[in-house]
Amino acid sequence: MSITILGIESSCDDTSAAVIRDGLLMSNVIASQSVHEQYGGVVPELASRAHQQNIVPVVDTALKKAGIQPSDLSAIAFTRGPGLLGSLLVGTSFAKGLSLALRIPIVDVNHLHGHVLSHFIREELSDRVPEYPFLTLLISGGNSQLILVRDYNDMEILGATIDDAAGEAFDKCAKVMGLPYPGGPHIDRLAAEGDPKRFHFARPRIPGLDYSFSGLKTSFLYTVRDGLRADENFITANMADLAASLQHTIIDILLDKLDKAVKQTGVRTVAIGGGVSANSGVRQAVADYCTTHGLTAFIPKRSFTTDNAAMVAIAGYYKYLDGQFCRYEETPFARVQV
Ligand code: KG4
Repeated sequence: MSITILGIESSCDDTSAAVIRDGLLMSNVIASQSVHEQYGGVVPELASRAHQQNIVPVVDTALKKAGIQPSDLSAIAFTRGPGLLGSLLVGTSFAKGLSLALRIPIVDVNHLHGHVLSHFIREELSDRVPEYPFLTLLISGGNSQLILVRDYNDMEILGATIDDAAGEAFDKCAKVMGLPYPGGPHIDRLAAEGDPKRFHFARPRIPGLDYSFSGLKTSFLYTVRDGLRADENFITANMADLAASLQHTIIDILLDKLDKAVKQTGVRTVAIGGGVSANSGVRQAVADYCTTHGLTAFIPKRSFTTDNAAMVAIAGYYKYLDGQFCRYEETPFARVQV
């Protein structure tokens, strides 16, 4: 008999539902919330309300696109955390309600595990997936982590940011440049036209495998401040070079610790995930690094880099196969737990 999992993701500002049948992706629907654009960041209260508005039509569309009825579902997987509590409550409560109505189990998924396991989403049976153990560089708006993945349920965080995440470094510097939120994709676009060696920004000297991006942010700020003192058009005149130099520095910082982690663990497969793994420069740098060192690289499709329910469904699928269900008493968690 087929195993069909509905995945639900509502941890931040994307409401998403996906269906995975016997490990194959049948649908993946995402409603992004534009309401936050005017505020320059996600407003939690508005995010929760938008999830409330979106969740029923998004789930309905995902089921229709997959060509299935609710009664075909074996279980419902949902993101339990980390994320915004009000947003998580919408997905969690919806999953519980639907599970009671359909008399099928719920499976709770750690959002970060979902990002790591996004490489196991198969659209075709022939799609290749990583072999364990592998190393994941998880880079998003809220996290920058190096994770050793021994199995779908056995992950060890080897290093993490001690201050800002890589995505925050992109977004905060982009804000200084007057770019819209989130700034990461704008920096990516501008960087393609700029000189990555034009400006030099501070690099952290943190021992071990932890990351830090706050020094880079401060030195970026000082460069812009000094530039503006000399020329009020400094930002507009140097947009592309600022973006390229910033992106170049972030990539250097990411790759430096990735290289250390590869050497420390001896793994032969490297994957990237999270919103920042959509960055063209990051993707190219990781692919080049793996080629140079004879490693296998897993670079996700761009649609699986940002928050999506397909990764929740695949993580839930593996837990379902192991009989790991969630009790109705469980509640969402806001902070990182692995
Ligand atoms: O994983 P994600 O969707 O959710 C959060 O953790 O919030 O990541 C969002 C982050 C934002 O900081 C955004 O600027 C960044 O991913 N991002 C990018 C690119 N696309 C998204 N950063 C650099 N280049 C991109 N192309």
